[in-house]
Amino acid sequence: MTMRVRPEMPTAENSHNFSVATGSTTPVGTTLENLKAAVCGETGASAKYAAFAAAAEEQGYTQIARLFRATSDAEQIHIGLEANLVKKAEPDYERPAAPEATPEAIDLNLIAAAQGEIDETSDMYPAFIQKAQEEGNAAAVMVFTRAKLAESVHAERYMEAYNNIDAADDDAYYLCPVCGYIEKGEDFEACPICGAKKAAFKQF
Ligand SMILES: [Fe+2]
Ligand SMILES: [Fe+2]
Repeated sequence: MTMRVRPEMPTAENSHNFSVATGSTTPVGTTLENLKAAVCGETGASAKYAAFAAAAEEQGYTQIARLFRATSDAEQIHIGLEANLVKKAEPDYERPAAPEATPEAIDLNLIAAAQGEIDETSDMYPAFIQKAQEEGNAAAVMVFTRAKLAESVHAERYMEAYNNIDAADDDAYYLCPVCGYIEKGEDFEACPICGAKKAAFKQF
């Protein structure tokens, strides 16, 4: 386990890893606009990981293929949560189509994936959280916060896979169906981000 369960679930107020990256490149609009931008970003990430999973499977990297599939599904959870908040303001809102993704070599796919996750966790989501706090939008703060925390773990999983690309083990990945957190191996009891119990997790 890489992220420990704390006595209180992590929030922007009780944590020290919510700073917005210096020189942030995230265009920040209203929270409604930010939710739509997040849906777009997550849609691209989910499609990219699905394409990377297929490529990994073809090349015989079955554990990495499972990780990409689990993470692709995790981003779908974020898309669902964010799109639901958009729909409360705009009932006719339709989710954007996924862009085409082109896999490269397996190691470069892992690095590209980790880079995207790092950017979301240290730039996009902290910037959106700050704006949602200013607007007093507690529901958006919660959704962005859980996504932010999950992205950082996704990055860590991708780097673990990168560093052990020639030393894969048999560990399964477990996806929290509530927040998109991913555990590697079965040595855990609950989600450190949202508290969901292990029994609810989906195994990959
Ligand atoms: Fe992610
Ligand atoms: Fe969770």
